[in-house]
Amino acid sequence: ARLVVLVSGSGSNLQALLDAIDEDPHGFGARVVAVGADRESIAGLERAERAGLPTFVCKVKDYETREAWDLALTEATAAYEPDLVVSAGFMKIVGKEFLARFGGRCVNTHPALLPSFPGAHGVRDALAYGAKVTGCTVHFVDDGVDTGPIIAQGVVEVRDEDDEAALHERIKEVERRLLVEVVGRLARNGYRIEGRKVVFP
Ligand code: GRF
Repeated sequence: ARLVVLVSGSGSNLQALLDAIDEDPHGFGARVVAVGADRESIAGLERAERAGLPTFVCKVKDYETREAWDLALTEATAAYEPDLVVSAGFMKIVGKEFLARFGGRCVNTHPALLPSFPGAHGVRDALAYGAKVTGCTVHFVDDGVDTGPIIAQGVVEVRDEDDEAALHERIKEVERRLLVEVVGRLARNGYRIEGRKVVFP
């Protein structure tokens, strides 16, 4: 399967995918064909370049409307003909065009146990709420904010001494493994989405 990975930050989830593919290029069942971002000069893009992958950047502020940005992102992604799109720390909500093209083929990873703590601050919000367990969720992207069908979740305990950074680091360790496992499984086995349920044959 062909993967396009979208990033906005450090790209450690992207790196985990690249490493897993490197370890077993045939067995993994997928390869990254391009990496896209919504901003320049991020470590995620550097990781892609180091791996010799083509990259593209679509910045919201370069377009007159959000719709125009969404169309540009859709076309830039579609140019690489992905079977699956992986939103790996991509901090933008995609729009109608993107979903029309890639709905049911776009997975996102979120650093909380959805449906708790959706949005841009999942780790901070869980901590502020006083949750004793949190974790990460890999799910399909739909037209809501972190609302699409859940594929897999990982649990992480909150420690009394945690701050946002420490908790996020422990979540990310679990998250990277989960994302690699899920993407590999989707690519190798195929899947169906039945309502909110993701079914593996
Ligand atoms: C992940 O925890 C992701 O869920 C969150 O941002 C982090 C991205 O990390 N939204 P990285 O860029 O893959 O290192």
